[in-house]
Amino acid sequence: MSGMTNQWWRDAVIYQVYPRSFADGDGDGVGDIAGVRARLGHLRDLGVDAIWMSPWYPSPMADAGYDVSDFRDIDPVFGTLSEAEALIAEAHEAGIRIIIDIVPNHISSEHPWFKAALASETAPEREYFWFRKSQNMPTKWIGEFGGTAWTRVDEDTWYLHLFTPEQPDLNWDHPVVREEFESILRFWFDRGADGIRIDSAALLFKDPALPEVTDGEPHPFHDLDAVHDVYRSWRRIADEYADRALIGEVWMPDVERFTNYLRPDELHAAFNFDFLGCAWDPYLMRSCIDRTLDAHARIGAPPTWVLSNHDVTRHVTRYGRTDTTFSFENNLDGTPVDLELGTRRARAAALLTLSLPGSAYVYQGEELGLWENESIPEDQIQDPMYARRGHTRDGCRVPLPWSGDEPPFDFTTGAPWLPQPAEWKDRTVEAQTGDPSSMLELYRSAIRLRAFKDQRFAWLDRGEGVLAWTRGADFACVLNLSGAPVPLPEHESVLLASGPFDGDLLPQDTAAWLRLK
Ligand code: NOJ
Repeated sequence: MSGMTNQWWRDAVIYQVYPRSFADGDGDGVGDIAGVRARLGHLRDLGVDAIWMSPWYPSPMADAGYDVSDFRDIDPVFGTLSEAEALIAEAHEAGIRIIIDIVPNHISSEHPWFKAALASETAPEREYFWFRKSQNMPTKWIGEFGGTAWTRVDEDTWYLHLFTPEQPDLNWDHPVVREEFESILRFWFDRGADGIRIDSAALLFKDPALPEVTDGEPHPFHDLDAVHDVYRSWRRIADEYADRALIGEVWMPDVERFTNYLRPDELHAAFNFDFLGCAWDPYLMRSCIDRTLDAHARIGAPPTWVLSNHDVTRHVTRYGRTDTTFSFENNLDGTPVDLELGTRRARAAALLTLSLPGSAYVYQGEELGLWENESIPEDQIQDPMYARRGHTRDGCRVPLPWSGDEPPFDFTTGAPWLPQPAEWKDRTVEAQTGDPSSMLELYRSAIRLRAFKDQRFAWLDRGEGVLAWTRGADFACVLNLSGAPVPLPEHESVLLASGPFDGDLLPQDTAAWLRLK
């Protein structure tokens, strides 16, 4: 790998592999590392620069692996540590970098630390968590999945968990916790990991006085200043290695607070959830893009463009609804979806995100145009969020369709852990390969053509409701959200378009990449 580009994260296309649902190598119905290795060719053909692997560590799977019981090994359902090392090596040979997922806010209740902490009140491990003596629940904090954030272990002892009770929160004021994670970072960097995606990156610290959440008062567990010191020390570690990136999962409405995580001695990048949640609307999108570009330019950090991930409703579905926004608070499950419209917009969105300055994330299956499976039978739902919020994230976690005419579409030789819609027979990799009108070929072409690296971004005025911009002197992207067909600017050729159009009139919800004269 040495000698490959520096600062690759600044403009990379990063593909998120959700290992349970990518490809199954052993026929147990759950995806695994063997499956990823066997299908690496798909990612090479797609042309991505890096893969982000969602957690693959030993875990009781109370939260699909985000409840980790050992950060230095691989869960048997996914394979072995030597298979993980082989995958890293094979990806590197294919020119693809690997980002692994680290979950510092909490660990599994089956982790040896928590077991020791529960076994004895005087165990040193108790201090690694948030145990409190109290007759009543210590606070009324609402957890991130909804519901209470404390579980009682005996008459008057409680522990804190911002997610499920199986994910006790760590006490980041304790030096052993800090040292442990620094050592875990080194463990994976030593094995060739090129980057770390940091789960729930803004939650680590809690106000030890445990105040209630009160409007106008500092939040007791979101975005406490102490977290920045941790990321400064992580950055020092990353900098000891060549070209390693730290990428934060930072949900933060306040742009100033968000960019604090991207100061030059902290994280390299963070997911743009502002953009992910934005409505399919020309004014809102343009102001979100401006906000993003301004904020990142001020701090010298690369913007990121994210349409989907394993936590949110797939954007083909979102963009096919009347309300095209996303937030966990606004549950739109079951509202009518026009999949044709959603697909048309998702195609345009691909050309949008892949031509803005910065790095772009592709969540597995979005290159196939998959939609949310909203018909998973209740008794098959596995997501712990469902019981607490009445919304399941399983609909975006359905195993990928690779080939064939019916489920399991060669995802597995067994029974997939979540049901796949039969309609996905037209969305398999096999069905789309070679079809120039397919979503897959659109992504392949766009990623291949995407060579704007240092080309300056500038808005182009094409009238109300049209988003258009140039990257350097000879490239423009035009996205029509005006409600009527619009003429294209003068150009030499159309490099790529998200949908068919006649002559020089670009239809609604369509984007085109142009080579300018
Ligand atoms: C964010 C992850 O993306 C999500 O899947 C998980 O449930 C929570 N953090 C808790 O780890």
